[in-house]
Amino acid sequence: MQTEFKSTLKSLKKYLELQRLSGINEIFYKYPIVLPSDSLSSLQKDVLACNKCELCKTRTNVVFGSGNPKADLVFVGEAPGMEEDLQGKPFVGRAGKLLTKIIASIGFKREDVFIANVLKCRPPDNRNPFPTEVLTCEEYLMRQLELIKPKVICTLGKFASQSLLKNQVPITRLRGHFHLYGGIKVMPTFHPAYLLRNPEGKRFVWEDMKKIKRELAK
Ligand code: URA
Repeated sequence: MQTEFKSTLKSLKKYLELQRLSGINEIFYKYPIVLPSDSLSSLQKDVLACNKCELCKTRTNVVFGSGNPKADLVFVGEAPGMEEDLQGKPFVGRAGKLLTKIIASIGFKREDVFIANVLKCRPPDNRNPFPTEVLTCEEYLMRQLELIKPKVICTLGKFASQSLLKNQVPITRLRGHFHLYGGIKVMPTFHPAYLLRNPEGKRFVWEDMKKIKRELAK
């Protein structure tokens, strides 16, 4: 990517020098030049300034995601809730506390993994995200995954699992098996908020976590 960018820049410089030699001193360019962010921190800057959908009007903070930018394991949730919106951090409410325990159950701290969401802004009153919001925002998650390059992605709940895997298969059938996203192994599991209401689901999440741990040890 960097080599490609450098060679494009070199050709552009050569072209502009030729134009100057032939007497052209000013060039007007109609469109803004948008280059894909080449690091997680520059992507974060773009996402924090995003106003591509209506959610930018009601959010308090953009929740970009947090953790190790070189993590082997990335957790993906649905969208920020009230607490996350207020703090600008993912999974910091009650479900987040449970997620921290789930992460610890396989020997990691939150700082070892990366935690993100499909949507970076809170839908008002925690309503379900609209399909247009997902389409607009999912590009950011894709870029995050491209830059982090994890070995395993763990999608939390139906929404994140179906969005990433582009299917409508129920979470009860998706969980427990590895799927593929651009060559990366994806393990869907139950969302921690679901586990707060249905603690009997915890044993399935424990099974899924053990499979992730084994995969990471390979
Ligand atoms: N639920 C999610 O899906 N994501 C969060 O960040 C918090 C709660």
